Amino acid sequence: MSHRPTNPIFCAVDTADLDHAGRIARAVSGAVGGLKLGKEFMTANGPAGAAAVVGDGVPLFLDLKFHDIPHTVAGAVRAAAEVLRPFMLTVHSAGGPAMVRAAAAAAAGFGVDRPLILGVTLLTSLDDDDLGRIGIAGSSDDYVRRMATLTRDCGGDGVICSPKEIHDLRQHFGGDFKLVVPGIRLAGAGSDDQKRVMTPADALAAGADYLVIGRAITAAAAPAEVAAAIAADLDAVA
Ligand code: C5P
Repeated sequence: MSHRPTNPIFCAVDTADLDHAGRIARAVSGAVGGLKLGKEFMTANGPAGAAAVVGDGVPLFLDLKFHDIPHTVAGAVRAAAEVLRPFMLTVHSAGGPAMVRAAAAAAAGFGVDRPLILGVTLLTSLDDDDLGRIGIAGSSDDYVRRMATLTRDCGGDGVICSPKEIHDLRQHFGGDFKLVVPGIRLAGAGSDDQKRVMTPADALAAGADYLVIGRAITAAAAPAEVAAAIAADLDAVA
């Protein structure tokens, strides 16, 4: 990958509004390790919008959660790497072994500039009841572990996981497997609509590699100051 994050924080820029995204990006770019753009921003603004918002040298986490036949996902990974040069991107682990392998192989074609391939194990919006309804027996914890194993065995670099899964996955998969963690809230803050939350320092101490932080930064009165304060806090525990 061409640009390495200078700290573990990826700020989620979750808006379809290009000007708003640009304001957030300009405010926080110097204080965070990188920016995350997902379906909302990319559907509205495309690669040209991403290029306008993500400055040169700012690591991009492209969170489009690819899930399709292997050939199509490989093509999407190649297109993303060529056009957007993301530091990391997501695919759904449930796309299966051949799909994850195809994504990893497509990424590998970019050598040292390749994007990290991260598996989405289980959407945190699904509970055990929902899992049953889509035909998956057993607990969500077992399912997450199974999807993470599939991701690793098929050449993925790591997974997205909730704060409560960090410890178990780190123990099980060792130090090289990347754990990227949303659901981060500042100490003393509310949880918005996130069911499982943790503070930045606790998530890092538990074994997270990168933290995805959206509203705690973007909805603050002074986003840059909040991002800088979190980064300083993390420096202290690193
Ligand atoms: O605003 P907040 O910090 O909750 O934003 C978290 C970001 O991480 C959002 O972009 C959200 O889509 C993403 N995310 C999540 N939970 C997951 C996977 C991704 O919150 N399980």
